[in-house]
Amino acid sequence: MNKPQITRCCAKEILDSRGNPTLEATVFLTDGTVGVASVPSGASTGIYEACEKRDGDRRRYGGRGVREAVVNVGRVISPAISGISASEQAELDRILCDLDSTENKSRLGANAILAVSLAAARAAANWYRMPLYRYLGGISAERLPIPMMNILNGGAHAQNNVEIQEFMIVPVGAESFSEALRMGSEIYHTLGRILSGEGHPSGVGDEGGYAPNLKDDEEALELICRAIEESGYDTDRVRISLDCAASEWFTEEGGYRMPKRGASFSRQGLIEYWCGLAKKYPLFSIEDGLDQRDFEGWSELMKRLGKDLLLVGDDLFATNVKRLREGIRHGSANAILVKPNQIGTLSETVQVIREAAEAGYAFIPSHRSGDTEDTTLADLAVATSAPLIKSGAPCRSERVAKYNRLLRIESALGSSALYGLPRRQSAPARKPATVG
Ligand code: PGA
Ligand code: ZN
Repeated sequence: MNKPQITRCCAKEILDSRGNPTLEATVFLTDGTVGVASVPSGASTGIYEACEKRDGDRRRYGGRGVREAVVNVGRVISPAISGISASEQAELDRILCDLDSTENKSRLGANAILAVSLAAARAAANWYRMPLYRYLGGISAERLPIPMMNILNGGAHAQNNVEIQEFMIVPVGAESFSEALRMGSEIYHTLGRILSGEGHPSGVGDEGGYAPNLKDDEEALELICRAIEESGYDTDRVRISLDCAASEWFTEEGGYRMPKRGASFSRQGLIEYWCGLAKKYPLFSIEDGLDQRDFEGWSELMKRLGKDLLLVGDDLFATNVKRLREGIRHGSANAILVKPNQIGTLSETVQVIREAAEAGYAFIPSHRSGDTEDTTLADLAVATSAPLIKSGAPCRSERVAKYNRLLRIESALGSSALYGLPRRQSAPARKPATVG
């Protein structure tokens, strides 16, 4: 028995952090070794994402059950992968894609396929008695990513009046991952005190950030700058990132309308709005500043801000290599968010990362707003030497599970642990951008 040979796989319906059903898959090997993985679920999902299979039976979980996907794992996928080696990830994932045979994995469900794909990698790593990051990344896996911590939630992730979905703090000036996490936690709590001092409720949104009603979105930036300073840091060391999720604002007429306050923008108007914020605040990156179909608009935004900031394609690329190639051709972005469940297999996720890195894009492994205690994302980030990771606030167990996993990896790596942006990857300017 010199190969981690798969005997079977199965899945069960578990709950994600929003209390909605999702899948947990288990892959069994001939010697009794197992690998277990669960998959997350988005709220502001893009139109180019692989299909998350839901039962649609309104008598269970309001139609959000995943029983059919669970059955697909046991009845369709299990016999097809029996006898395959779990360490042949590319072959395994090709079999899963062929078995599904649709462009967007709608037959079996990307949730079913990804859960098996990840559980197989875990089973193989366990069989080799290796931590997952080492199994996936080999001897070069020694870099810890900079955490982008979402400390104020708006948009589709919170029941407040804030339009921008995520306000993140990014400790680019920390010396290590553990220091970055400590800085993030301190700033998070300072922000909490500032907000409660001003009479805001202490409730949090889906990703663990506070979710107050504010005068406008700029007030969020002012409050975060204040929290950074009152925690004893400056905005050279801790920058701010936005996820605008602007595809949610796109109108049929081709403009943008923020759904909560109703402010309307043309594409050009929205570009000017982002340039204005970048001039005024210490921004590090802007994610999905424009709609997912608007490669041209993105290229225009790149011309204005691409030298100073990371412009991150999430819905724009949907972790899809074909869309990434189109973006590279158009010069539409300089960074990509990587969400394994947007594409549905580990191999395709790694291919996107490889091509993004080759094109000089920063790549950012990311959780979803509905997530689980699964920590595969943390191992994937270290395995691929990701410069950054998005896993929400330093609060709520499904968010800190990934950060805590990174702390454990950092301590296992000891003095060989590296942190942050590799030297050859250009860090955006430290000062607020000067925008023309
Ligand atoms: P989602 O949000 O998981 O709801 O899509 C996360 C993001 O947009 O980055
Ligand atoms: Zn996003």
